[in-house]
Amino acid sequence: MGKVIAIANQKGGVGKTTTTINLASALAKEGKNTLIIDLDEQANATIGLGIGREYVKISSYDLLTTPIDIKDTILSIDEKLAIIPSSSKLANIVEKLIGLEDKERLLDKKLSTIKDNYDFVLLDCPPSLSVTIDNALFASDSVIIPVECDYYAYDALTQMIQKINQIQKEKNKMGYILTIEGVLLTKLDNRNLFGYKMIEKVKELFPNKIFKTIISRSSHIQEAPMYGKSVLDFAYNSRGSKEYRELAKELLGEK
Ligand SMILES: Nc1ncnc2c1ncn2[C@@H]1O[C@H](COP(=O)(O)OP(=O)(O)OP(=O)(O)O)[C@@H](O)[C@H]1O
Ligand SMILES: [Mg+2]
Repeated sequence: MGKVIAIANQKGGVGKTTTTINLASALAKEGKNTLIIDLDEQANATIGLGIGREYVKISSYDLLTTPIDIKDTILSIDEKLAIIPSSSKLANIVEKLIGLEDKERLLDKKLSTIKDNYDFVLLDCPPSLSVTIDNALFASDSVIIPVECDYYAYDALTQMIQKINQIQKEKNKMGYILTIEGVLLTKLDNRNLFGYKMIEKVKELFPNKIFKTIISRSSHIQEAPMYGKSVLDFAYNSRGSKEYRELAKELLGEK
């Protein structure tokens, strides 16, 4: 059965999109059929995988706002990796869905028809706590929360956890679950002791929920989107590529 994972944190720039692209690429290379859904109006996951905005005719906005069949929104990246791209139209989603009944469950309903065609579906969420994140959390089995090794990112964690708790309660009433897959520490500057202090603080908050794999700050990770590639395809033997491959193994219970 396909597992749906939201990559979410309302804090901007913490590595959600980077994690979505590179974890998906690593899972695909492990032979797992993987689908990314880009739910952010910035369309960074779409662009980062080499799909220019001008090529996107149908996007996650159409998926959420029209009766379109989800199968008609999927673009293939390679044999094991596909994406539902995003477009800037998503900026209007709140107004578009206002007053609509069950507006938090639109994605869940559409996704349920195809999720078993995939081993993993990764949802790249926007940096906000809007109706889009509600849709993502309702559709997900679990959440990965990327947290940059930085004090403000640490401080913002509480709000994200409150949102997850709220949706968890609503889903439990309906007989569904939403778990925290793990907190992923990202952008660690290995030359700076401060990052390690932040790791200790996050560990105090989530003693059992932190991924063993920590993602370092790396120029290869930063550069890969410029070439429309994951860091694995851009520089397979780089440190960043290795760390995301380790993360995939940890998620698969192989590490
Ligand atoms: N491990 C890393 N090393 C170096 N740069 C990184 C790393 N992870 C992310 N970045 C860079 O940091 C910036 C923000 O990353 P990313 O877009 O993944 O964050 P995000 O949480 O998706 O942001 P947003 O909230 O805007 O959607 C990007 O320029 C990205 O290339
Ligand atoms: Mg992003």
